[in-house]
Amino acid sequence: MTEPSVSGRSELPVRDDLRGKTPYGAPQIADVIQLNVNENPYPPPPALLADLQRALGEPGLALNRYPDRDAVQLRTSLAWYLSDRTGVALSMEQLWAANGSNEVLQQVLQAFGGPGRVALGFEPSYSMHPILAAGTGTQWVGVPRAADFTLSAEAAVAAVQEHRPDVVFVTTPNNPTGTVTPLDVVAAVCEVAPGMVVVDEAYAEFASGPSATTLLAEHPRLIVSRTMSKAFALAGARVGYLAASADVVDALRLVRLPYHLSAITQVVARIALARMTELLETVEWVKRQRDRMVTEIGQLGLTVVPTDANFLLFGPFDEPALVWQALLDRGVLVRDVSSGAGLAGWLRVNAGTPAETTAFLSALEEVVKR
Ligand SMILES: Cc1ncc(COP(=O)(O)O)c(C=O)c1O
Repeated sequence: MTEPSVSGRSELPVRDDLRGKTPYGAPQIADVIQLNVNENPYPPPPALLADLQRALGEPGLALNRYPDRDAVQLRTSLAWYLSDRTGVALSMEQLWAANGSNEVLQQVLQAFGGPGRVALGFEPSYSMHPILAAGTGTQWVGVPRAADFTLSAEAAVAAVQEHRPDVVFVTTPNNPTGTVTPLDVVAAVCEVAPGMVVVDEAYAEFASGPSATTLLAEHPRLIVSRTMSKAFALAGARVGYLAASADVVDALRLVRLPYHLSAITQVVARIALARMTELLETVEWVKRQRDRMVTEIGQLGLTVVPTDANFLLFGPFDEPALVWQALLDRGVLVRDVSSGAGLAGWLRVNAGTPAETTAFLSALEEVVKR
């Protein structure tokens, strides 16, 4: 048997269904104001870093040992946080955590999607959902949202009844549009979905409405996924989690890698949850800058899609790529989402610190008035 050639990328024996696909790729550019990946602009407070340093020196955190495979202490803290936050009593057995909600969602597709199965989402939405579907061999069905990016119960139910997906994704607030999907729409989807329903609440802390956790008791196939990357300002720590029935969590343990969540990750997340009040203070600061962006972008004669997240969609532009470049030339990096389905002409920006927001708004004014 001859070994497959590795001389050229195109000659590698990559799976046929992955050929020609593009990896996820938001630009990472240093020395500019980064408002393109919906991060929280405030770094963790020094007290959190001091706690972490202390914890790293404790004998309990022996790095020669594997971490707790089931992250029980972290899941207990997450259950406490989410119960407190959403008013729904949740137990440790109903929580699951992984390296970012991306990994949580991947595990959901490994367990409930896969070859011969279908996942469905309402687009435009988070671009990783179809990428994770592709990676797990799950067929992807993208159903368009209304022109104003909302999702009605009628449209959602009709799509689910037509395609009979094994996994349905509803992102609320939706990325990249910021749009909220009311809980009655989620409930209507749960009523008719033949498989799992995943409500991706990555931006829930910035939103005013109730969480889909309030529907968990009635809908045993519902999964609510969350992240510490946004409101908790911990994107670099990679901590995502979900709430679901204990049976769903059990199923995920079949596909997770052993010791998938490092001891360091678990301890950072627990320290952050213990300092929750301090960290979540930034949510109000970020929302203030977001609201300022909504007002001031509107004053430039542009449209802003109604948002309940830490980012917003603005435009529409005849040549969004040129506007994106002109903003970058002025030191501000936003997200050009305009090549996505249904997104022609739009750019996305997340709220920054007051100084970053000012820099963005000044740059945009200059570009628009040019
Ligand atoms: C809707 C949505 N879900 C999930 C994620 C993944 O976040 P993380 O893997 O950092 O938890 C993101 C990140 O931008 C997102 O926008």
